[in-house]
Amino acid sequence: MPRKKLIAANWKMFKTPDEAVVFVRAFIPLVAHHRHAEIVLCPSPTLLPTVVEAARNHPIHIAAQNMHWLDQGAYTGETSPLQLKALGVTHVLIGHSERRQYFNETDESVNLKLKAALAHHLVPIVCVGEQLAEREANQTAEVLERQTSIALEGIDPAIATPLIIAYEPVWAIGTGRTATPEIAGDAHKIIRAQIANSLSTELAASTRILYGGSVKPDNTASLCALEDIDGALVGGASLDPASFAGIVANSAA
Ligand code: PGA
Repeated sequence: MPRKKLIAANWKMFKTPDEAVVFVRAFIPLVAHHRHAEIVLCPSPTLLPTVVEAARNHPIHIAAQNMHWLDQGAYTGETSPLQLKALGVTHVLIGHSERRQYFNETDESVNLKLKAALAHHLVPIVCVGEQLAEREANQTAEVLERQTSIALEGIDPAIATPLIIAYEPVWAIGTGRTATPEIAGDAHKIIRAQIANSLSTELAASTRILYGGSVKPDNTASLCALEDIDGALVGGASLDPASFAGIVANSAA
């Protein structure tokens, strides 16, 4: 089975509900003819009900940018998988580097969140990626293997089919410095090999691995043309409907 491309918009802490509706209304007609890629929008928590409603009956999935691993409890400021599901959210980002960097997300909490997402039938998009100092110290493979293996620890391969991984080198996020297709391709191979080690060769072959980090309409085709790159997780260039639609279109390499 060929892996279907997936293009996800990570809106981070941008847009009001009104702005989100304006985006969705403008975006839908722009992608109406593209069936080659799954499209996911990841708005911040307060926008989720609005965006779910605006995208209803269109082939656009909605993801949360984060969640807690427990169903409920005394965890002020957190959102549970049950609460996301009740809103109509189907996907969830886990372990984005900004969560790791600014909010104490660890490999261990990523693992707990991944288990919770799979148990609740939310499609997890687990983010991994090395920092610039780690790349310069030739530690990229070690970092990717560590992040991926701890994320996948104790995961039952029988329920891991929905898993998606996003390779996001931290030095490429929001910097305008995209990984070359060669760098991204090598990293994706390392991650795929780790999935084979941690889960199974079948899952390594079927799991989609997205690239993220300064993806723009004009560099999408060269990245998505690579055998091991199954789509993109897009930050800055996903905030504008024409730009994000351009990325969707250009991913059909
Ligand atoms: P960027 O962000 O496209 O703005 O580099 C990517 C991300 O953080 O997911």
